[in-house]
Amino acid sequence: MIHPIRLYGDPVLRRRAAPVRAFDDALRRLADDMIETLHDAGGVGLAGPQIGRPLRIFVALELEEPDPDAPVGEDGERPEPKVLAEHVLVNPEIVSGSGRRVAPDGCLSVPGIWIENMVRHQRVEVRYQDLDGASHALEAEGHFAHVIQHEADHLDGVLYFDRLDADDRARFLDAYRAELAELQRRAKAHLKRVRSAEAAT
Ligand code: NI
Repeated sequence: MIHPIRLYGDPVLRRRAAPVRAFDDALRRLADDMIETLHDAGGVGLAGPQIGRPLRIFVALELEEPDPDAPVGEDGERPEPKVLAEHVLVNPEIVSGSGRRVAPDGCLSVPGIWIENMVRHQRVEVRYQDLDGASHALEAEGHFAHVIQHEADHLDGVLYFDRLDADDRARFLDAYRAELAELQRRAKAHLKRVRSAEAAT
C-alpha cells in the first residue's frame, strides 16, 4: 500500500523514532509499504517517520555508482543508474564514518528543493537488524553511504539541511522561505485530514 509522504512542518519528522521491538507480520507489511511508497515517489530512501510511523526503520536503494565515462544519451542525460539491491534496515546504528563526499542531497519530505553540495562521510559502517530481528553489520560507500546517513538522521528527527553549518543553513532557509512555508501549510492540511479520519472511526 502506498502511503502519503509526510511533509516538512509535520511534527512526526522532528520526533526521535522509537526502537522496533516486534518483528512480526505488521513490521513486514510496513517494510513492504515503505518500499512500494519509495518506488512510487521515485526516491532512493524512505524512513518510517516519513509515512507517519515514528519507528526506527528505513528502506534504501543501493545503486550502481555512476560511471563518469558513461556515454551521455541523445537527450543529454546519463542513463538511470541500475538498482543493485533494496535494503531494509531496522534499528540501524551508524558505528563509524570516514572520508568526505560532496554530493547533491534532497528529501521526499521536502520536495522541490535540494542542496547541490552536501558534505557527508564517504564510508559508513552500520549495524542493524533485519525483519526477523537478526543482527547484521554492513559497510557502505559513496552514494549508498550517503543515503544511509540521510535516512538514519530521519530516525532522530534530523532533516538534511540541519547538517549544514549555521551560515549555510540560514541562507538555505532564507532562499526557500516561500517553498518551506507552502510545505508547512500542506503538512498541516494533511494532518487535519488524518485527525478527522481518525476521529470518524
Ligand atoms: Ni529524507
